[in-house]
Amino acid sequence: MEKRKVIFSGMQPSGSLTLGNYLGALKNWVSLQSEYDSYYCVVDMHAITVPKEPKDLRRNTLEVLANYIAAGLDPEQVTLFIQSHVPAHAELAWILNCFSYYGELSRMTQFKDKSKKQDSNAITAGLFTYPVLMAADILLYQADLVPVGEDQRQHLEITRDIAQRFNNRFSETFTVPEAYISKDVAKIMSLQDPNSKMSKSDSNENAYILLMDKPDVIRRKFKRSVTDSVGVVNYTDEQPGIKNLINIYSKITNKQPEEIAGEYQGKGYAELKEDVAEVVIEELKPIQEKIDYLLKNKDYLEKIYIEGAQKAEIAAQKTLRKVKRKVGFISR
Ligand code: TYM
Repeated sequence: MEKRKVIFSGMQPSGSLTLGNYLGALKNWVSLQSEYDSYYCVVDMHAITVPKEPKDLRRNTLEVLANYIAAGLDPEQVTLFIQSHVPAHAELAWILNCFSYYGELSRMTQFKDKSKKQDSNAITAGLFTYPVLMAADILLYQADLVPVGEDQRQHLEITRDIAQRFNNRFSETFTVPEAYISKDVAKIMSLQDPNSKMSKSDSNENAYILLMDKPDVIRRKFKRSVTDSVGVVNYTDEQPGIKNLINIYSKITNKQPEEIAGEYQGKGYAELKEDVAEVVIEELKPIQEKIDYLLKNKDYLEKIYIEGAQKAEIAAQKTLRKVKRKVGFISR
């Protein structure tokens, strides 16, 4: 039998997940799970690259795991685990740090954006080498495909560069992974500034929808969403706020954006906002019920992440042993 292709991806437990995380990545993961050998990780080690309260990190880590399962990832089919439970991630990251360059890391736009938001004395080395840990995550599992949102494209490029550099230096070691970014809705934008991405770290909570938001909160946030003064619903870059609402609608209903725009001819923005809110509420309802249930069943979550780490560890060690041998470490 032909070996199944491998998928790896992860999310940071830096807060509750947003509609951007869900539509940009998680929903795609669910649709890919039956065809691939999949590893999905909660990347708690990435989350501490910026200041984080320990109790929040603990809560968010379990929440993200519950979100994965509630959104439809099946623990029987995919490997779900917590990054810090598999020490091979940190070990490979160190080795890869020694094959990554200051110059290329300095060019990462996410580092530049995130470091701008911090006091310059508080920018950690961890934030700077964040993409190297991400490369280690992916390369440990010899992943072929990495389903992510558009904002992670540059991190995938550097992962490929690091893998190729290592392979050229020491012979074939790593599979060089491809990014899987769905063309249609790769970026869900902020509801308050449709030119920047929807992010849970936004200081204005009206900018994002959380997967756990209650129906009335979702209605209110869409109602207040920033649009334009054109007054006609078109699917165009000239109307980024409306375009974003249509994208959300489209991704959930699988209707084509142009068709949706057509249905709102002669109608106002208020109606579109109300309808998008209802579609989102309906989509999230069963997920929210399941999240509530899972968070009350911590023993079940514990069983999932323990078994997940055991499976992940086996695959990760296989690669790590090879890497250590190639760089010249003596095995014991
Ligand atoms: P993170 O935690 O910021 O986001 C998780 C996933 O959600 C996607 N995403 C979005 N997609 C569309 N629109 C948005 N507004 C939006 N916001 C977030 C992200 O693209 C991502 O796919 N560095 C990664 C985590 C990571 C990782 C990895 C990913 C660590 N190691 C290895 C893949 C493979 C991150 O910060 O994602």
